[in-house]
Amino acid sequence: MQKQKNNDVLIIGAGAAGLSLALRLAQHCRVTILAKAGSQETSTYWAQGGISAVLDDKDNFDFHINDTINAGAGLCDPYAVRFTVEHAPEVIAWLESLGMPFTRDKNHQGTSPYHLTREGGHSYRRVIHSADATGKFLHNTLLNNAENEPNIRFAENRIAIDLLNGAKLGKKTNRCLGVYALNLETGKVECWPARIVILATGGANRVYLYSSNPDGATGDGIAMAWRAGCRVSNLEFMQFHPTCLFHPEAKSFLISEAVRGEGGHLLLPNGERFMQRFDKRGELAPRDIVARAIDHEMKRLGLEYVLLDISHKSEDFIRQHFPNILSKTSELGFDMTKGPIPVVPAAHYTCGGVMTDLNGRTDLAGLYAIGETACTGLHGANRMASNSLLECLVFGHVAADSIVRELPDTPEPPPLPEWDESRVTDSDEEIVVSHNWHELRLTMWNYVGIVRTNKRLQRAAHRIQLLKREINEYYSHFRVSNNLIELRNLATVADLIVRCAMKRHESRGLHFTLDYPNTIPRSRATILKPPTLPAHRHDSDDDNNLASLHL
Ligand code: FAD
Ligand code: SIN
Repeated sequence: MQKQKNNDVLIIGAGAAGLSLALRLAQHCRVTILAKAGSQETSTYWAQGGISAVLDDKDNFDFHINDTINAGAGLCDPYAVRFTVEHAPEVIAWLESLGMPFTRDKNHQGTSPYHLTREGGHSYRRVIHSADATGKFLHNTLLNNAENEPNIRFAENRIAIDLLNGAKLGKKTNRCLGVYALNLETGKVECWPARIVILATGGANRVYLYSSNPDGATGDGIAMAWRAGCRVSNLEFMQFHPTCLFHPEAKSFLISEAVRGEGGHLLLPNGERFMQRFDKRGELAPRDIVARAIDHEMKRLGLEYVLLDISHKSEDFIRQHFPNILSKTSELGFDMTKGPIPVVPAAHYTCGGVMTDLNGRTDLAGLYAIGETACTGLHGANRMASNSLLECLVFGHVAADSIVRELPDTPEPPPLPEWDESRVTDSDEEIVVSHNWHELRLTMWNYVGIVRTNKRLQRAAHRIQLLKREINEYYSHFRVSNNLIELRNLATVADLIVRCAMKRHESRGLHFTLDYPNTIPRSRATILKPPTLPAHRHDSDDDNNLASLHL
């Protein structure tokens, strides 16, 4: 039997959310960060455009708030928006103090010393960035600082499988007690007891065939929280980024919205600009509108892609602003300085997730969720560009404060039962996992994409149920592997996405359905309650308002 080492705080995930929380907590307690993959396998590392924050005197909080609410198509929680926007300058100052190399504005046009770019939905230049590789610099900055903190311990190559809570162990008090995780080096399942557990596991965008995200974006945190009895919300709002490079070897490489922010045009093959026909903000309309317009034009004209052109800007300008994108596209044989490049939409961001309050607390005592895995109410029906890294950093900060307040009264977890492998054997047909994986992603791409209908959703629901049955049967007979754990989670999240989509009888933000093409005047968040909702914090069963979570 393995010796169980109790952890004060166990953070699952080493992206912007997990690392920033760990750094804030390290002054107060011991923190362990568990992650299934290395740093390059986080969405954080791949982020390009930047972080939105009011940093120039001509901009103000109300502009940022209004832009976020407009992009969110009337479904943002105004408390969450104001809260996040008002914390933004503080988190940027904190990153500067950690040594984050933000790009400076050589021409000093505004009152900020930094270059601020623009992206869709923003009425003002407010996206602070590090060239076009903000995520890489951000991740390196957070990681370098975290590696020098004696109170932070890393446990990489471990994939969390499921949370343990009091209810599962038949205890009277239902709180989160730890997690089971597969050690990917030894192949053994370990038990990680903890006083507080935080899900910082990122999004679920790999549930679609084409996605801008790393392979590990499989919604593990959402699925684990759901199985542990937490509510999830707004999962119908899966965001498709309008411009990923169309190339068989590019794996949906993102072409930052900042390219359009700095003057890039979307074109049809005949050179016609088309975005003005869909929205007066043209290429800088919010993402849901631009992705839908591209999808519409591709279907109308039978195109495989549309074009993105910034070659009317000088070569120096393009090299200075987009060195990373320029280098990647030229590796693949394109020259952005000379002509347009082919682009298509791909799944990019999970606006919904595990419901939390403004401290990051979930329905289950002792369990927090922050970053893309959470649904705080900030993004509503469509996230505005560059508000995600901001949310990770703000909620990393406030969750730390809440955990520090909570820890003194939080008991040590009891010894937890070891993972039981007595009834499983090694898989004889690993190939089944990859077949199911492909079928699930194809189903989601074909039937739960940018444009939906009742019939398509029903078709998807039916196929997902069959897949879930097969996967669960496989799971109960064979030893767990990384792929099987992720597939099981993807199937759960696919099911939740379709169930949320079926509940929404209107078109709003990222959810567009031909059966209900209009937006109804008043709408609310979609909330799914698991069969085993813990008797904790939320007593009212018909409470359908995210703001009510803000205790
Ligand atoms: P991630 O950074 O994805 O980290 C998740 C972590 O959880 C990883 O360490 C992973 O290994 C771990 N994990 C997951 N499941 C498990 C498990 N079961 N067990 C153990 N560990 C697990 N947003 C912006 O605001 N600005 C941008 O410019 C921007 N550009 C983007 C560009 C790209 C290409 C992409 C993909 C996203 C971009 N986004 C951007 C979105 C933003 O990057 C993400 O929403 C954000 O980084 C999510 O951070 P996170 O910490 O929640 O998750
Ligand atoms: C981008 O650079 O276009 C991505 C920005 C984001 O997803 O917020």
